[in-house]
Amino acid sequence: MTAITETDPREAFAERLLEDVTRSMETLSVYLGVKLGLYHALAATDGATERDLADRAGIATRYASEWLSQQAAAGYIDCDNPGVEPEQRRYRLAEHNAEVLTDPDSPFHVAPLTRMFAGCTSVLPQLLEAYRTGGGVPYEAYGIDIREGIAGVNRPMFVNELADWIAAAPTVEQRLRSAPTAKVLDLGCGIGHSSIALAKAFPRASVVGVDLDEASVAQAREIAAEAGVADRVTFVVGDAAQVQAEDTYDLVMMFETLHDMGDPVGALRAARSVLAEDGAVLIGDERVGDQLTAPADLMERFQFGWSVLHCVAATIAEDPVEVSGTVLRTPTVLRWARQAGYTDSEVLDIDNDFWRFYLLRK
Ligand SMILES: C[S@@+](CC[C@H](N)C(=O)[O-])C[C@H]1O[C@@H](n2cnc3c(N)ncnc32)[C@H](O)[C@@H]1O
Repeated sequence: MTAITETDPREAFAERLLEDVTRSMETLSVYLGVKLGLYHALAATDGATERDLADRAGIATRYASEWLSQQAAAGYIDCDNPGVEPEQRRYRLAEHNAEVLTDPDSPFHVAPLTRMFAGCTSVLPQLLEAYRTGGGVPYEAYGIDIREGIAGVNRPMFVNELADWIAAAPTVEQRLRSAPTAKVLDLGCGIGHSSIALAKAFPRASVVGVDLDEASVAQAREIAAEAGVADRVTFVVGDAAQVQAEDTYDLVMMFETLHDMGDPVGALRAARSVLAEDGAVLIGDERVGDQLTAPADLMERFQFGWSVLHCVAATIAEDPVEVSGTVLRTPTVLRWARQAGYTDSEVLDIDNDFWRFYLLRK
């Protein structure tokens, strides 16, 4: 009879950590490929040597050599002839992987997550200090990689799905399609992709995007001008909780931002104060469970990762009333909505792996 051998739990856990660190390093290796244009360069070839890649992407051949071998070892790219000398090997990027890595419109374009991750690693000394002192790490300290990383991951949803989300609120959709010009407020708009997508989907609407981060607003203005919608889409730097307006808005959007705000109830109250009588607030925020599970599923672990590395620290830097963290649960959103004075809050039946949607009416 064969003896049943139990795995030593220390060994099993050590193996898991080893694998986690390997995957983290592989994540940063994708970041190198994204930032240096290596995937785009490879995708443009029908197979490339290390010298081909180095020439096309303008990087040093020795680094190209190592990176290509590592990418093939990680299973991200293919190697036609791994047994030959490095300089003779030919590497290629399969079309489906190229879409995930290089196509900014693809619903599978998750490559910008690696920029978000790298942005978090760039502030680790400040983050350690913040954990010790209870202070925060401002959003802007995370730099262009977090800003463009978040925007890059969310953009395909705005481009491909935003109009469908709004269709879940038919009266709002009808208003956006009709005259006179409907007014939309996009709170926590980041670099503006949701504002621009809305304006493109609804050519009669005008949009004001608001964000606390100056660099995001500056970039949003540039992107709106390039997209040819700057006459209908404007951006201002500001705290969502301080928003005031002479006009009312038919729609207020808050995408993946409520959990970041230092005064989320104040922001919802401000949104309500500028909402037209028959207008609505559309929130998209993380699709997590109603309570902690331990261990949790991948989505909850994914969101907690951003929370411990970024969201909690960035919110604390706002001198907050309340710190949600990334894992914003449905009961909390509904409680905040009640506290902010909304009488009608619903969870929308919208299929999305990352976000859950809420519609609030006055
Ligand atoms: C995760 S990003 C989402 C950006 C954008 N909505 C998107 O989906 O790509 C969160 C954004 O909320 C902004 N933010 C955080 N606190 C804010 C506040 N109190 N008022 C306005 N914007 C805020 C940040 O500057 C950041 O741009």
